[in-house]
This record gives sequence, C-alpha cells and structure tokens, in this order.
Amino acid sequence: MRILILCCALLTGCAKPPQTTPSEPAQTKPVTTTVKPDPHSFANTHQVKSRHLELDLAVNFEEQILEGHAIIHYDVVDPDSRHLVLDTRDLKIKRVEAVNHSKQRKLSWRKGQSITGLGTELIIDLPVDQAPIKVVYESMPQASGLQWLNPDQTSGKQHPFMFSQSQAIHARSWIPLQDTPAVRLTYAATIRTDPALRAVLSADNNDQNSVDGVHQFTMEQAIPGYLIAIAVGDLTFQKISEHVTVYAEQEVLAAAAHEFAATEDMITATEALYGPYRWGQYDLLVLPPSFPFGGMENPKLSHITPTIIAGDRSLDSLIAHELAHSWSGNLVTNAVWHDAWLNEGFTTYLESRITEAVHGTDRMQMEGALSYQALLRAMQTMDDEQQKLVSQAPFADPDDHFTAVTYDKGRFFLEWLEQQVGREVFDRFLNGYFDQFAFQSIQTADFLAYLQTNLLTPHADQVNMTQIKDWIYAPGIPDYFTPPMTNKFTQIDRTVAAWLAGELSANDIETQAWSTQEWLHFLRALPAELSPAQLQNLDQTFAFTQRQNSEIAHDWLLICIRNQYQQAYPRLIEYLTHIGRVKLIKPLYEAMMAQTATHQLARQIYHQARSGYHNIATRQIDLIVGREADKPD
Ligand code: BES
Ligand code: ZN
Repeated sequence: MRILILCCALLTGCAKPPQTTPSEPAQTKPVTTTVKPDPHSFANTHQVKSRHLELDLAVNFEEQILEGHAIIHYDVVDPDSRHLVLDTRDLKIKRVEAVNHSKQRKLSWRKGQSITGLGTELIIDLPVDQAPIKVVYESMPQASGLQWLNPDQTSGKQHPFMFSQSQAIHARSWIPLQDTPAVRLTYAATIRTDPALRAVLSADNNDQNSVDGVHQFTMEQAIPGYLIAIAVGDLTFQKISEHVTVYAEQEVLAAAAHEFAATEDMITATEALYGPYRWGQYDLLVLPPSFPFGGMENPKLSHITPTIIAGDRSLDSLIAHELAHSWSGNLVTNAVWHDAWLNEGFTTYLESRITEAVHGTDRMQMEGALSYQALLRAMQTMDDEQQKLVSQAPFADPDDHFTAVTYDKGRFFLEWLEQQVGREVFDRFLNGYFDQFAFQSIQTADFLAYLQTNLLTPHADQVNMTQIKDWIYAPGIPDYFTPPMTNKFTQIDRTVAAWLAGELSANDIETQAWSTQEWLHFLRALPAELSPAQLQNLDQTFAFTQRQNSEIAHDWLLICIRNQYQQAYPRLIEYLTHIGRVKLIKPLYEAMMAQTATHQLARQIYHQARSGYHNIATRQIDLIVGREADKPD
C-alpha cells in the first residue's frame, strides 16, 4: 500500500503538502527491492536476505584460485521460503552445509539456470532451523572478478600479485553470494597466504591481525556485495595522516605517499559539507598498472591506479572521487544498476566540490569544462535512450552502463540544482539525504520522493518536478543549463588560434605556469589534422612524447595516431604494454582501428599487450581490435 501511495505521488504529483523542512528530513523509507527486482541477480532477496558473511579463503597462486568457504547468515523475509538462491559465476561448488553451534549438516543444493553474463543460480534448500549456510568452494583461474599477475607484471618483479574488482557483478565469480546492490551485509574474513605476502581487504586492515600468512579481517558496516574486495601481494605501507595509510609495493610507495598528501584535507572538507565520514580509516591501495579502472571505492580502502601519480598531485581529483563514494555509493547505494547515476553522478558532483575546497575554484572549473566537452563528444555517438540519466531499456552487462552520461550529466544536473536553490540550501539538503538513507540501498524514485518533500516543495518558486524529470528521463542536456567555462581555457583557445595562424611561434607560448588541465585543453583545442612539421614543432618545443603524465601522454598519442606521427610509435607501444587502465588505452586502440594505415600497428601492439590486461579490458578491446590480434588484414 505504501508503495502504491508513493508511486501515485511521483507519477501524478498528488503528494500531500509536506510537513517537513530541509533540516527535518521526511521519514521516507526506500521502496527498493519490493518494487523492482534486480535484473542482474538471481538472488531471491524478497524471500531471504543475507545479513552477514564469513569468508575463509586460501590464496593459491600456483593454480590461480581461491579455495575455502563462505558462511552466509541470513534473515527469512517470507516464512514460506524454501530456498536460498545465490549468484555464482565459474565457481566450483564442493558441498553445502548448515552450521549450527559448529555442528555441520549436509544440505541439498543444485545449480539452476545459467545466463551468459549473469552466471549460474545456486539453489540451496533452507535448513528448517534457519542455521547459517556454509558453501565450500573454489574460484576458477578465469574468475572475471580477479586478476592474477606474474612477478614480472609487478614493480618488485619478485612476487605474484592478485586483486579483485567486484563491481558491478563480478563478486559472484569469487564468492557465492546474493550479488545485488539491494542487499547489504557485514563480513569477517580469514585469508591464508604465503607468509611473505600481505593481504588487504575492504575492511579493517590491521597489521597486528596477521600471523604466519593467516590474516583476519572484519567489516562491521553493512555493505553491498560489490564492495567486497581483496588484494594480495608484496605490499608495504606508510601512514600519511590521521585517517590515511597508503599501501603499495615498495618501489612506488614514496611517490604515492607524496602524490596523495591532500587526502586528509579532502576528508575534512567532505565532512564539513556532507557530515561525518562513517568508516573509520580511509586507506589507499596503489595497484599494479594493469588495474582496469582509475579507482574503485572499496570501503575503508580505495583501490587506485598508479597512472595518477604525476608527481605534482594534479590528477588527485580521482582520490576525491573515490573518497566521495564513502557518502554517495557506499553509504547511500543504488539498489539496481539502472540507477547507477545515484552512485556516480552524485559522486562526480561531490568530487568537484571537494576539489574546489582543496585545490581551488580554477582547478574545479577547468576539470568541469574538460568533462563537459567530453560529455558532448560522447553523446554524439549515443542514441536518445543512452542519453537518459535513467533509462528503462534493458542492458545485459551493467559494466556497460557506466557512461559519461551516468557521471557527468549526473554531475551537471546536481550542479544546476545547486544553482537554482543556492549552495547553502543545497548542501543542507544533501547532508540530510545522506543521513536519511545512510546504509540503505535506494532507487531513483526514493531520491525523487525525498527531493519533492525536502527541496522542491519548500523552493517551488525556484525549481519544479518537470525540470527534474527533463534532466533524468529526457535525452540531451536541457537548454536552460549554462555550460561550465573558464577564462583559463579561453586564453588557451586564443593561443592555439594564433599559433595555427603563424602569428605566434610555439617557443613564445607562455606555458611555465600551465597545469595538467591547461595542457589537456591545449591538446584538445588543436585541429584534428596537423602537418608533420607542426607535430615536430610541438614535440620539439614541449617534449610531449617524453611526458610521463599519463593523461597528457594519452592525449598527445591520440593526436600522433590520427596524424601518423611515427616518431611517437615507440612511446605508444611502451604506453600500451605498460598501462591497462581502460579509459587510457581504449581510445588509442579505437583511433588506430579508425584508419587502415594503423590497423597492423594496433594488432601488433595488442598481441603483445593483451595477456597483461585485465579481462574487463580485453572484453572491450577484443571488440575493437579483434580477438586474433596478430592476424594481418
Ligand atoms: N565505481 C567506479 C569504478 C567502476 C565503475 C567499476 C563501474 C566497475 C563498474 C569508480 O568510482 C570510478 O568511477 N572510477 C573512475 C574515476 C573517475 C571518474 C574519477 C575511473 O576509474 O576512471
Ligand atoms: Zn565512481
């Protein structure tokens, strides 16, 4: 009944006048799973809900498997339930038992349907006493959520390395669980490794808790399964501030600790805006360069690519982003992947606010302008459905649902909303939102109901639901939005025009004080076609081919590919065989495959690089270059 009333309020605007003000948030309860089941999970969460997980896993580098068990504690929601249905993918299930007071009884189980992309249902008979259920299992070497690295893929070259990437639906490839963001659980873990290695989890990483390669962890806050994470390698650590310890291989630790020095200030700034950081520690784990993402917000321990270590902290907004997820995403979580903008759009907005607080308005505006340009470019290749912040169109793999729209259209929507009601009001509203839905998984409808009561009604003269629905359910960007701009970039546009017209020589461009963001805008402002002489002139003056800043190098290499500037090819090869971050490598392969002259180059490089990439990367690059990467045309 409550659901019906809520839906009615949303569809027809027939809500009663609100009794609350922004400082007294309405007691809206999430409508979540009862309304719409998660299309990307087999779990029967409407009948049985996991509450706590006990993991005991041995890390077997030789066979590239995890072996051990998971004990699932659960609540029965529907007294008629007879089964617990879990998600699995490529798991070897050995046996299933009910565990009561350390007595174990066999339970019958069977595999249900298998769907490509989603995995296989594991259907377990519920024990009558509702005792916790223990699944004894092994992961497989091809587990989509794990990457196993040889020593030569690490900085130290002595020891192997393994890490997980569970978002969006890869946790099920290394843990049998209800792999839907609609369900939250606490967990405890025992991880058994070679004593020479260290294991870190998205949990309390307490050095005292490991003896002889047996590491104990607890995670006391309830999180969705996609936030369970593990990494094992020859890791060292350095505490850099009150809440922050950086974990990395010895070879990169000092540079990482220097690069991420602003993290504590970021925490302080976010707390001032949106309320307390509720997770205790905020540690950073620097992964080997094959990590397919920039960062992953695993709670208490964000996983970070080494490609943002630029030496000058100019790419640390990514830390602001992963930290921001401690509010938007980890505290208030999208219950289904169709609503990913609740995680990523909010986080991208928070990221910009943190960056502004810590690095100033110029930096925030430049990053905003770069993202806006990238969003417009990305939308050119999208159909109307893909341009919607929330689309009802089904999608097979939630990993494909994270686009510039999810991130940047989401961000600009919230920025626009802030502009309508003013920063003070909006900050208070968001603060209340995080409080209201803390440790819950919600859908867009829950946000809209909260928004209606706590922002739209009290500020009806400034913003209305029709505009909100435009932003959320219509393609494109509403024309009443004023795009971000910055004088710094207008200046660079003039410089580029003067250089192209031959009025200014490259040597005379005043670049000493340019930030990474200005360099990126400069490279993006250049015309698509440049002559060999122009390329040489730029390269000789600014040493682009030698740049170690991964973003600047990326944008330069893109230009080199398009203009077939062969002097940069050795650097291109080095770049693509060293880095596995999809955002940085995919556009380079796409550019090579967009013109016949560089097809062979793309295939050669991919042939050499592919085995070092994560399967999340190869799945996408295979589609661009082809699986048989070394075959001639
Ligand atoms: N949660 C994402 C990474 C992710 C998205 C993993 C979808 C799996 C599926 C993370 O917070 C993120 O957005 N990373 C970005 C950072 C950037 C936008 C600052 C990345 O990796 O590039
Ligand atoms: Zn994110």
